[in-house]
Amino acid sequence: MLRRSSAAPPTAAAAYGGHVNDTTVAVIVVAAGSGTRLGHPEPKALVPLGDDTVLGVALDAVLGMREAPFVVVVAPTDRLEDVRARSAARAAAASVDLVVVAGGSTRQESVSRGLAELPRAIEVVLVHDAARPLAPAAVFDEVAAAVAARGRGIVPGLPVVDTVKRVDGEGHVLETVDRSELAAMQTPQGFPREVLESAYQGAGADFTDDAALVASAGVAVDVVPGDARAFKITVPSDLHRAEHLLAERVASAAPDPAAHRAHPAHAAVPRVGTGIDVHAFADDGDAPLWLAGLHWPGERALSGHSDGDAVAHAICDALLAAAGLGDIGGMFGTADPRFSGAHGEVFLAETVRRLEAAGWRVGNVSVQVVGNRPKLAPRRAEAEAVLAGIVGAPVSVAATTTDGLGFTGRGEGVTAIATALVVPAGEQG
Ligand code: CTP
Ligand code: MG
Repeated sequence: MLRRSSAAPPTAAAAYGGHVNDTTVAVIVVAAGSGTRLGHPEPKALVPLGDDTVLGVALDAVLGMREAPFVVVVAPTDRLEDVRARSAARAAAASVDLVVVAGGSTRQESVSRGLAELPRAIEVVLVHDAARPLAPAAVFDEVAAAVAARGRGIVPGLPVVDTVKRVDGEGHVLETVDRSELAAMQTPQGFPREVLESAYQGAGADFTDDAALVASAGVAVDVVPGDARAFKITVPSDLHRAEHLLAERVASAAPDPAAHRAHPAHAAVPRVGTGIDVHAFADDGDAPLWLAGLHWPGERALSGHSDGDAVAHAICDALLAAAGLGDIGGMFGTADPRFSGAHGEVFLAETVRRLEAAGWRVGNVSVQVVGNRPKLAPRRAEAEAVLAGIVGAPVSVAATTTDGLGFTGRGEGVTAIATALVVPAGEQG
């Protein structure tokens, strides 16, 4: 669903006074910590990051959500006015209601002060650490959508890749913990409002995240895939990493995540995207070829971190581009072991899921394969059926050769070029 534009963007003061958009989703951004481990003179949320602050970058993601949330920023007590001044213009520009309140001495206390600010209409509450400024807007959208759909607590988590050991106080290893059952928790964590409120009301101990608090109250919490960019800035090297990633984001001129919100009239129209992928044929003569979601017995494999399915990957890029969600490299990094050797359909299904979470559905996809082999025509209908089944919309597959020219002409690899049309979910046509 797309948010409605607000005729008169409210100021923070107006929001505080009770003017509230018709949203049922709130995001509490906890930013009241001092950042002891970071060791910077400023409180962590106010430490410079790029040409902004840690909190500013975090807020940009929140303000980039597809549906405008109600936002509560929980700030250091002695910096309230400063944070209010910095946040108000941002929120007004995005037509978002935002209030700033003073935090407490623990994170839990800060969250509970944020909870006290929620308007009556709020049904879903996301709690986010300002210290995770690069968590993408799409993760907020997904968590909010999952809470609404499942009515349970939803936390983003990443598989633990390092071997984990239990160690005693003297540094002796006691045992290796089975990491297949472990996940590293991130924020934003989302909950039905009444679940979070009653867990906070009954809280006996201090917890480092909301999922732990809610779980201690005996309420079920589900994990959804997190995002490597949602890492927490804790020590100085984390800040350097964030600086680096932000500089890359600026250099690649990634669209402002809030841009579609700044022009709501444009957000209601269909959008197209283009994607291109190239894979070389592999040296390994025994490896199987996967292309267009099909296995091609007897054909030479394409090489790649995944299964090399250039058709599936080009479609992913076209879909992501159409929805303004970045590209396949940003979403499924080649460093991520979960996607090593993964089939194209894994990427496609996940891409479609992300699109849906961001409020889009696929209109149709057209993809053209450029290369000598395999001969697609005999299996075109099969490929179209498989891909359409994954994408949930018509997919046309075409193929061509390049008259012996270039790397495709020499049979060194395959190119796929895709165009996708996406339409706002709920819109006809
Ligand atoms: N937080 C908060 N109020 C507190 C403590 C923490 O709002 N009393 C927030 C932080 O601002 C941060 C998030 O909770 O966004 C996660 O906490 P953490 O990373 O531990 O931040 P700090 O407590 O600021 O850092 P440190 O523990 O190193 O002092
Ligand atoms: Mg802390």
